[in-house]
Amino acid sequence: MTDMNTLFQSADWKSEKHAPVIEVSKKDGYYWVDVSVGKEIAHPNTTTHHIRWIQLLFHPDGSKFPFEVGKVTFDAHGESPEGPDTSTVFTEPRGHFALKTGKPGKLIGLSYCNIHGLWRSTINLNL
Ligand SMILES: [Fe+2]
Repeated sequence: MTDMNTLFQSADWKSEKHAPVIEVSKKDGYYWVDVSVGKEIAHPNTTTHHIRWIQLLFHPDGSKFPFEVGKVTFDAHGESPEGPDTSTVFTEPRGHFALKTGKPGKLIGLSYCNIHGLWRSTINLNL
């Protein structure tokens, strides 16, 4: 049986281009959470090598289960019937979420590279 933890890679996003970067600010009663890949070291965004999706989970302190805040898919990676040209579209791997909660906990960002698999970052959400 596969240990799920071994399926996720993790590293400091400042030295590893795949690790999701989670940034939080508070405004108008919401926590605004930006999750991106490649902030310090750009990740390739080509037809053959790109980030497919980012997901954000919130695990309140003391709770058994996490909540899925949302998931963003990135669906344009330079595909074109005529081949790459100036009209080709590349979706950047950035997700923006807004959430409300009355509990502190952990924000968990997941990302998926079509070549290098699943990546995970976690930060504390302190109220
Ligand atoms: Fe990759």
